[in-house]
Amino acid sequence: MFKETDKQFSYETSILREGAYINAPATNPESAPIYMTTAFNVEDLDDLYERYDEKGFCYNRNRNPNRSALIDLMTYTEGGEASIACGSGMAAIATTVISLVAGGDHILSDMTLYGETIEIFTDILEKYNVESTFVDFTDIEAVKAAIRPNTKLFYTETVSNPMITVPDLKTIADLAHENDAYLVVDNTFMTSVGAKPISFGADVVVNSLTKFANGHSDAVCGAATGKQELIDKIYHNQVLLGSQADPFTSWLVQRGMRTMELRVEKQMSNATKLAKALEKSPYVKKVYHPSLESHPQHELALKEFGSEYKCGGMLSIVLDDDKDKINAFMRKLNLAHYAMTLGGYRTTLSHPVSSSHYDMPEEERLKIGITFGMMRISVGIENPDELIEDFLQALEVFA
Ligand SMILES: Cc1ncc(COP(=O)(O)O)c(C=O)c1O
Repeated sequence: MFKETDKQFSYETSILREGAYINAPATNPESAPIYMTTAFNVEDLDDLYERYDEKGFCYNRNRNPNRSALIDLMTYTEGGEASIACGSGMAAIATTVISLVAGGDHILSDMTLYGETIEIFTDILEKYNVESTFVDFTDIEAVKAAIRPNTKLFYTETVSNPMITVPDLKTIADLAHENDAYLVVDNTFMTSVGAKPISFGADVVVNSLTKFANGHSDAVCGAATGKQELIDKIYHNQVLLGSQADPFTSWLVQRGMRTMELRVEKQMSNATKLAKALEKSPYVKKVYHPSLESHPQHELALKEFGSEYKCGGMLSIVLDDDKDKINAFMRKLNLAHYAMTLGGYRTTLSHPVSSSHYDMPEEERLKIGITFGMMRISVGIENPDELIEDFLQALEVFA
């Protein structure tokens, strides 16, 4: 609270006060200001307690207006009751999972997940006596067989990374609940534009907002959304762990999300067109995209996502296991370029063996189906015909 006073201070004191506050009316700007402050000044102890009661703003690790704005947007878009916003997708996943399990509990997880999520389960949680089992979540009998009396958490992705499998979320949510367990779903690849896991019964949905949601490849951020009671628990731990999103990042991501629907709709439609074209190429051994009839969960995807042009902006292709040819292909592409991220407005490529699944032993990787020749494609909002033409000319290196 800026204290107006006629009292004159020395230079060394005044330099701390002059110009530190905006004194002219500056309410209701068209775009929300960024609250780059660690704390908010309070008038007195009554004011302080009122802020506690109203969940107002005191200290940045607890609450910040830009983070709250992003939280409101996430809660609305995912259709939950409450959210937290975190410094990364991994922070959201870690904060959520450790809040929902305790020593002695068991996690039942899909086997094809973002590699570092698997490492949270194996490298971190195992140390705290939380065991995890990894099974193919598209095989409901395998999921049922792996349930234990102490299974507390089922974990999957709406569309998995990088195999692009689609689990039956409703059936898995029912199974989790029949066994007194929670279902957590990572919705990063689809965003709420493409799918709303909470509507299928997920208790918490986690998102790396770094990807499609922000869409501009300029901020690392994450969120967890779900029932109020669960988010309260997760929020309590977030404050202790300090995994919150900073004000500028929160502001950037809420700005990016304003155009999320326009971007993701086009990315999904472009992905379907590209997948269909690549499937016809003699140089592509396999295309994984749920829009294709060859995809094992094609029918389920149509049911979960609504149409073949809404099956997500991510696809994977399998090329020859030939590093020199893959290098030549990458160099010949004019539009798609390699980037260790996804979901940006331009088409990018990644190589799961050298990135997301770099630390996974080869034997386990191959069991999932991740070969050296697999490339993952995050489709952008380019003109789809130009994108297809560019891929097809670059694939000629495999002739
Ligand atoms: C499906 C999925 N979940 C979570 C993450 C982690 O997100 P972040 O890099 O924002 O921590 C990623 C990162 O690529 C991802 O692909």
